[in-house]
Amino acid sequence: MKRILIIGSLGQLGSEIAYECRKRYGNDNVVLTDLRDDINVPLIQGGPFYKVDCRDGEAVLEIVKKHNIDTIYHLAAILSATAERNPLNAWNINMGGLMITLEIARQMGCAVFTPSSIGAFGPTTPKKFTPQDTIQRPTSIYGVTKVAGELLCDYYNHKYDVDTRGVRFPGVISNLTPPGGGTTDYAVEIYYEAVRKHHYTCFLRGDTYLDMIYMPDAVQAAIQIMEADPSRLRHRNAFNIAAMSFCPEEQAAYIRTQIPDFTISYEIDPVKQAIADSWPDALEDYAARVEWDWKPKFELAAMTKDMLDTIRGRE
Ligand code: NAD
Ligand code: SER
Repeated sequence: MKRILIIGSLGQLGSEIAYECRKRYGNDNVVLTDLRDDINVPLIQGGPFYKVDCRDGEAVLEIVKKHNIDTIYHLAAILSATAERNPLNAWNINMGGLMITLEIARQMGCAVFTPSSIGAFGPTTPKKFTPQDTIQRPTSIYGVTKVAGELLCDYYNHKYDVDTRGVRFPGVISNLTPPGGGTTDYAVEIYYEAVRKHHYTCFLRGDTYLDMIYMPDAVQAAIQIMEADPSRLRHRNAFNIAAMSFCPEEQAAYIRTQIPDFTISYEIDPVKQAIADSWPDALEDYAARVEWDWKPKFELAAMTKDMLDTIRGRE
C-alpha cells in the first residue's frame, strides 16, 4: 500500500486528490499538510494533517520519516494572477517549496508528483495544437516558476534518480474548493453566477481560448501518472494533457442550453487578459496518451451539465 504525503492539500486540486487518495489507499496512509487549516474541515479531521509551511524542510522531513512516506504530491504554489501581484513571494514559495520537497525525496527515496501548467508556455509558443516539446518563454512570473520547476524535476530524476513525474494541467474546473487566484478562475465562477444571478461579468475577452479540464479527469491524471509503468515514460515530467478548449462566449452558449436566460458581459482585467493571451489556445497531448494511456472523460457539454446540476443541488 502506498504511503502518501500531499503538500498544499487544502487547495482546489489538493483537496480532491486527497479525498480520492484516502478512498483508494486508506485515510491513515494519506498524510496532508497545508499552510492554512481554516477550510475543508472534514479532510483535516479525516486523517493525519499538519499545518506546515512547505519551505520548512525540517518539519516536512520529520513528517516523511514519521509516516514512512513513499510518494509526495507537491501542490503548494501561488497561482498566476496572484503571483503577478508579488513576484518575489511567488518565486520563494513555488521554487523554495519544490526544492525542499525534491531534496527530501532524494534523501528518503520518495516518488514526487509536481504539476506544471499551460502557464509554462508563452507568446512565442505555437498557439494551436501546442506540441509536447516546444518553445517555452513564458512572460508571467508563474510561468517562469513552472518552467524552472519542470527543469528541476527533470534534473533530480537524471542526476539522483528521484522518481519525479508530472503533467501540465489546463485550467481546472471544479465545485468543491474554490480556485486559488488563477487566470482561468472565470471558468469556475461563471457556473456559480449562472445559477445564482443568471448573469456573469467576465474578466477575460469573450474570444479568449484556453485549455480546461474537469476535476474528475484532473484527479485521475494525477493518480494515473504516479501508477504508470516507469519503463514506458519517455518524458516523465510536464506531460501536456488536454481535455477541452473553449472561450467564454462558447461556455456561455453551453450554459444557455441549461439556463436559457443566462447573459454574459465583460469587464476586462488587463493583467489577467495579458496572461491568458500569452498562453496556448489548445494543447496536443499525444505523448501522455501513448506513454501512460491518458484519456479524459469530460468535454464541455457534459461538464457544464454536471457543474450546474451539482451547484443547483447545493444552493
Ligand atoms: P490552490 O491555490 O487552490 O492551492 C494551493 C494550496 O497550497 C493552498 O491550500 C495553499 O494554502 C497552499 N500553500 C500556499 N503556500 C504554501 C506554503 N508556503 N506552504 C504550504 N502550503 C502552501 O492551487 P491549486 O489550484 O490546487 O494548484 C495546485 C497545483 O496545481 C499548483 O502547482 C498549480 O500551479 C497547479 N495547477 C493548477 C491549475 C488550476 O487550474 N487549479 C492549473 C495548472 C496547474
Ligand atoms: N489555472 C492556473 C492559473 O490560471 C493555470 O495554471 O494560474
